Amino acid sequence: MPFKKIDHTDLSYFQSVVGDKYVLTGAEHLDRCASDHTEDLHYLPEVVVQPTTVDEVSTIMKYCYTNNIAVTPRGAGTGLSGGALPVYGGVVLDMKRFNKILKVDKRNFQVTTEPGVITQELQEHLKAEGLFYPPDPASKGSCFIGGNVSENSGGPRAVKYGVVKDYVLNIEMVLPDGNVIWTGANVLKNATGYNLTQLVVGSEGTLGVITKIVLRLIPAVKHDLTLLVPFRSAVEACSAVNAIFLAGYTPSALEFMERDALEWSMKFTQTTGVDLPDDIVAHLLIEVDGNNMDELYLDAEAISGIVQQFNIGEVLFADSHEQKNMLWTLRRKVGEAVKSNSIYKEEDTVVPRAELPELLQIIKRLGKEYGFQSVCYGHAGDGNLHVNIVKGTMSDEDWNGKLTLGIRELFKEVIRMGGTISGEHGIGLVQKQYMDIAFNDVQTSLMKQIKQVFDPKGILNPGKLFVGA
Ligand code: LAC
Ligand code: ZN
Repeated sequence: MPFKKIDHTDLSYFQSVVGDKYVLTGAEHLDRCASDHTEDLHYLPEVVVQPTTVDEVSTIMKYCYTNNIAVTPRGAGTGLSGGALPVYGGVVLDMKRFNKILKVDKRNFQVTTEPGVITQELQEHLKAEGLFYPPDPASKGSCFIGGNVSENSGGPRAVKYGVVKDYVLNIEMVLPDGNVIWTGANVLKNATGYNLTQLVVGSEGTLGVITKIVLRLIPAVKHDLTLLVPFRSAVEACSAVNAIFLAGYTPSALEFMERDALEWSMKFTQTTGVDLPDDIVAHLLIEVDGNNMDELYLDAEAISGIVQQFNIGEVLFADSHEQKNMLWTLRRKVGEAVKSNSIYKEEDTVVPRAELPELLQIIKRLGKEYGFQSVCYGHAGDGNLHVNIVKGTMSDEDWNGKLTLGIRELFKEVIRMGGTISGEHGIGLVQKQYMDIAFNDVQTSLMKQIKQVFDPKGILNPGKLFVGA
């Protein structure tokens, strides 16, 4: 910092590397890359460059490094912490042309893919071969696998199958100075040196540009069953989550939705298929999966028995494909539904699972104290609660001042409970102001030094993770 502004010489150089067609300066392109799914933030880049080979990325990075030009890598732009926003202008490196699944290695249960493949398309391609890549963020129909790796995404299935980091074996990436490396090896065990692969997973595009990913896969699972359990107390719904695990069951998804979350999603998707009696304040959406349908029915019945100890309404067993799809669409659309309803801020709290009821109570108490309304939903099975704070009638002054203090207090409580401030959305731009709650000076200094080693000039995805970056 400060970075060099882009001029005609730079544009001509980029054109010579990727071709005229893939150097975009038109208002609509700049505008598309100025925002992601985070709040209503908007930062215009100076140019959008769309490379398609690792050599092109390397050549561009080398040039930008030499000339001190800011570069922000971008996947599908579905991020929720502003990680892909070009806050210092410069180049957006749009990875959408890296859209090939390069090799499915069925013998070894692995796939090598480029980062610009849509996650759901990758999953469907693999499923057709009898293979399963479980991580399924809500945006799976539009997000890119490269963005998922950069943010270490999770999703509902994380509770049984883990998150993205549990599947990444090896990464090809271009360093800020243009050097190209592989981070590891295509093996299930690796005790060779520092684990660069896991350092890069979740590094939010700040250490290098990912150009290939090798993922571990598992055999496809044949069946699943979904049930929706309505509760008359939201805290009890959170308590029921742990009761299910303590009884010895691990659902393949265990999602929590406050009433508003489900109701807004029903309105947003124009769905009428779920009964919502007045006394119901929260739901658990539970899925079990496996290869033996009879066993799944037994598991579903047992889980239904466990939740009967709580104050619940009538359990809905989704027996048709359409009904299951309807319930999961409702769940996946909650985020968009909230966004369409009001200006909002999304917090991505995560605590050890048994502390979830306490977390919910704290959120509601702080809401009263600081005057904010929240809609909570998320991956209760792994203690990950999305707290959507809606602006409603709050004044701009309170929204930008008092609310920040309330969020700080919430995050302090989360840390006290042994949790942390983001489970799967990352820190990016909007959460960096809270990093001091999660990490002390020694920890922060270590992280900043890692960034410095990879990117001494700080040109790659500047303005992220750390205050002052
Ligand atoms: C979800 C996204 C917001 O769980 O993470 O819907
Ligand atoms: Zn989520």
